[in-house]
Amino acid sequence: MKFKEKTAYITGGGSGIGKATALAFAAEGANVAIVDINAEGAQQTASEIEKLGGKCLAIVGDISSPTLVENSIKDTIAKFGGLDFAFNNAGCEFVAPLLETSESQWDEVIDTNLKGTFMVAKHAAEHMVRQKFGVIINNASDAGLRGIRLNAAYSTSKAGIIHLTRSIALDYGAYNVRCNCICPGCIKTPLCERFNAEVGARKGKSGEEVLEAFVKANIPMQRVGMPDEVASVVLFLCSDDARYVSGAIIPIDGGLTAGM
Ligand SMILES: NC(=O)c1ccc[n+]([C@@H]2O[C@H](COP(=O)([O-])OP(=O)(O)OC[C@H]3O[C@@H](n4cnc5c(N)ncnc54)[C@H](O)[C@@H]3O)[C@@H](O)[C@H]2O)c1
Repeated sequence: MKFKEKTAYITGGGSGIGKATALAFAAEGANVAIVDINAEGAQQTASEIEKLGGKCLAIVGDISSPTLVENSIKDTIAKFGGLDFAFNNAGCEFVAPLLETSESQWDEVIDTNLKGTFMVAKHAAEHMVRQKFGVIINNASDAGLRGIRLNAAYSTSKAGIIHLTRSIALDYGAYNVRCNCICPGCIKTPLCERFNAEVGARKGKSGEEVLEAFVKANIPMQRVGMPDEVASVVLFLCSDDARYVSGAIIPIDGGLTAGM
């Protein structure tokens, strides 16, 4: 087991990529804390981890709240006696171009995706710098690597996460705190389903039709990814095998962003 006696804190652990990563960490012996706005999802992940003999602290809350973030990290350290890995994964998307994005919709996306990542990284790094060890992984998106139509707020938030990753890697590498960013492409989760359904609704097509055409035209590997194919990269980046990797921006997208 790679992560015995280590502790991983994961936002958005109640579904999709966050859930797959929580289960993968637990399978490698880590204590896991998950934060999710969806109580049912968080409880479900926790009970699956416990059934496997792992330990999970499930915290219900919104990562755009500074108090929730600060307290949830404190509670994780108090329960498990430390914090080694933070996976900034929770995110929300909003499908609309600029002229159809209200100020409150913009704020919701930026506050969840970008400010939430900033606050988790800040409170996790405070602890990691003190203990001179830690790994922060930020989940951006292919949408952070180039613009995506109908995605002004989301793409902007994800581009910000990429630069925040680089800043953290530059400022805290000397304390043995590494920070890396993953950029998933099209991964089979409820978020991806909602995105395609909303794009489809604008074009008079079903979400499935939109996704199928997108995969065929744009993904060299000709298929979507699965959440566990993202989780395995997160675990690699947290492991000692990646001990000299910091400030890296890693696409996990079947070749989607390799070029035209
Ligand atoms: N699925 C994809 O194709 C894809 C592609 C690129 C990037 N991503 C990114 O991956 C991350 C995970 O998404 P997913 O695809 O697993 O989606 P998902 O909807 O399956 O999971 C997201 C989880 O985050 C939680 N969440 C949302 N807002 C929250 C908040 N304010 N506070 C706490 N929890 C919150 C949700 O309740 C949910 O459990 C997101 O940041 C997303 O932008 C996903």
